[in-house]
This record gives sequence, C-alpha cells and structure tokens, in this order.
Amino acid sequence: MSSQYAAFLAPPTLSYQSLNAAPHDLYRKHRSEFPFVQRECGVFLVLRAKDVQALISDPRTRQVETELARARGISAGPVMDLVSNSLLFSNGDVHRRRRQPLSRCFAFRMMEGLRSNVRSLAQELVTHKLGDGEMKLRDDYAAAIPAITIASILGIPRCDVPLFTSLSYRVAKILTTSWTYDDLPDIEAAITELSVYVSGLIDDRRKRPRPDFLSDYVASIDEAGEMSALEAVMQIISVVLGGTDTTRAAIVIMVGLLLQQRDGVWQTLRHYPDMVPAAVSESLRYEPSAASIPRLAVADIELAGHVIPRGSPVLLSTMSAMRDPDVFADPDRFDLVRPMSKWHPVFGGGEHRCLGEALARIEMEEALSALINSRLDLELGDQQLNVHGHAGIRQVDELVVRWR
Ligand code: HEM
Repeated sequence: MSSQYAAFLAPPTLSYQSLNAAPHDLYRKHRSEFPFVQRECGVFLVLRAKDVQALISDPRTRQVETELARARGISAGPVMDLVSNSLLFSNGDVHRRRRQPLSRCFAFRMMEGLRSNVRSLAQELVTHKLGDGEMKLRDDYAAAIPAITIASILGIPRCDVPLFTSLSYRVAKILTTSWTYDDLPDIEAAITELSVYVSGLIDDRRKRPRPDFLSDYVASIDEAGEMSALEAVMQIISVVLGGTDTTRAAIVIMVGLLLQQRDGVWQTLRHYPDMVPAAVSESLRYEPSAASIPRLAVADIELAGHVIPRGSPVLLSTMSAMRDPDVFADPDRFDLVRPMSKWHPVFGGGEHRCLGEALARIEMEEALSALINSRLDLELGDQQLNVHGHAGIRQVDELVVRWR
C-alpha cells in the first residue's frame, strides 16, 4: 500500500500472539505504512526511529507511574510498593531525588574500576566448565555475571549470592510482558524477601560505614533527608531489577547471534578481539533484550496524520526503531562495522536513560571476551537462539554451547 493511502486508514490493532510470533516481520511491514500500531489491550506501539527518539523526552509524554500496574489489577501490596517508590516509574523532582544518589556510582569512570573483577568472574566461570565439553549459556554463565556483579557492588557476602541471585530473577519477572497472575504470589514473596534483605544491608552500612557503594548511598540519602526508608530500599531493588534480566538475556542473545555466524563474525572476533565492543553494540541493536520504553501520552500526539489520544499508554518500540532503514542502512543485516551513534538507542534517552549502561557494556564485553580468548572451539548445541517477546524485557530460552 502506498503511504499516500495509508494516511487515510487507521493503523491496525494487533494481538499479543501475532506480535510475539514474528515481531520483526510485523514491525517491518507496518513501519513503512504507519507510525504506530495498537495492541489489543489499547497500548500504542510507536515504530519509527525519529518518533521513538523524539517522544522519549517530549513534553507530550511522561514516564508511566502506577498506571500499568493498576491496569493489570494491582492496587496494593509489594508490587505496588515497588512501582510507586521506584525511580523507574516516577517523574520530575521525585525522579531526580531518587536517581541522584545512584548516579555518581554508576558513572562510566567508576564502573571501569570494576572491569577487572568482571573479567576474572567470566574467566572463572569458563574455566570451571572446561572439562564438561558443554555449558548452559543462560543459567550457568549469562545469569551469573550480572547477579554476582551487582551482589559485589552491594557488598553482599559470597555465601548469600545464590539466594540474592535467585531473588533477583524472581523479582525481575515483573518487568517482562510474560508474567501471569499465577506468577504474582511468587513475585510478591520475592520482593518482600529482597526488601528485608536490602533493608538489613542499609542498616548495617548506617551503623558500620565502610568504603563501598552502599555506605556512600546511605550517607548521601541521610544527608539529603528526602527519602523514606521504603524509598531507600526500593531504589536498590530497582537497580537489581534493571540490571539482571536485561543483561542476562543480552549476553545469551549476543553469543547466540555470533555463534549462528560461526564461520564469519565469530572467527573475525577471534582474530580481532578489539572488535568486541562493536559486536556488543550491534547485537544490542539487531536483537535487543529490552524492546521498548514505556510512556504515557499527556496530550494528543499526532504522527504522520494519525493521533495517539491523550491518556493512552505508549510503548516506544526501540526494537522497531533500531531496524528502521531511515536511520540504519540495510538494517536486517548484522554488521560489525556499522557506524553507531554515541547514544545507543537500546538504553533509552532523556532523564530516564539507563543508569547501568556502562556496567552492562562491561559485563557483555567481558562475557564475550572470556569465551573468545578461551580458545575453545565453541559451537551451538542442538537448539538455535530463541528470543521471546516484542516489548519490555525479552526472555530467552536456554542455549547450550559445546566445544571439543
Ligand atoms: C543490556 C542491558 C540493559 C539494557 C538494554 C537496559 C535498558 C534500559 C532502558 C531502555 C532504560 C530506560 C527506561 C525508561 O526510559 O523508561 C533503562 C533504565 C534503567 N536501567 Fe537499564 N538496561 C540495561 C542494563 C542495566 C544495568 C546493568 C543496570 C544496573 C546495574 C541498569 C539499571 C537501570 C536503572 C536503575 C534504570 C532506571 C533509570 C531511571 O529511571 O532514571 N540497567 N535501562
């Protein structure tokens, strides 16, 4: 259909099922005709790169607060405590005072200091598996790197790391589109347990400060005196939430994509390991672990003659935007030498731009480098990479890698 006629037709409404079945195909098809599609639940999915970029911090949008949780019938309890007290779901001054005590620690310069620890962790995990001839990439490798790294930033004792890791992944399910009401009791129990645990850590640093992130955080919030005890805990849980599932999935996707091109890109990387950061960036563009950014329309938004009405929930589809040929030449091709802007779209933009970008990149770079430098002749097991979801945090199936 020519875009001349598309302007007179309403953008289509699509089912969850069809979007999940072939998200790239549907985005490609509709992006050329319409600036957005609607999902059957009423949410608008914005598809074009220029619109996604502009609407992230447009005054006609704001971050969603409790609307999405309420739309799913949640009005109280641990999930609501988290959502209504987190920097992730707040705006304006409330957001600024919640984000500020975390920002300094997560700056690129500070995170670089952690690189050697992440490198040792990734190498240790690979070495531990050497004799096995195969490894579960998701559960034995990709899951451990972000969870253990965040645990070490928070100064969690090694013996508590398995508990902390399991709680982190149970809580993180709330950010996916795949949780059902049957999952809710477990998510709520995990939020409660993690809150008690984090609250204990905060009390400990208040009584016995030491030179670490959490002591700095406690000193900074106590000095400002603007955060309730619940808020103080929920910002830490937000960091855990933002930094586990996203990075676990991103590592699996990256290694899966590269091993699917074992004779091409994978071999190139083995010969030119300084291209690892480019491989990280391109895999985040090509098949992102976080597929969209949520916003609420606070005014009517007109895009190419079509209107998103005021009050509508909006998902800015970074997944679609990063395959938009108007910005990325030959977008369906994985291209290691593709020029990328300094501000990678997968990490969002504006005031909510990802706080953990530097850490995520370090974790992904070191996870990939440890596999490449191990000199193991890796290949995928029987399954191929399987990524689920068209929005929010995407999920990956287990992926076995083998070597001889
Ligand atoms: C590949 C991995 C990651 C991706 C793709 C990703 C993506 C994003 C995106 C798109 C946002 C913006 C959300 C919005 O505007 O509504 C965001 C925010 C955030 N991310 Fe990440 N993230 C990743 C890793 C991490 C890590 C490792 C951490 C921390 C350890 C982290 C912590 C956060 C936090 C705390 C926010 C909220 C910032 C705010 O609301 O001000 N993320 N992330």
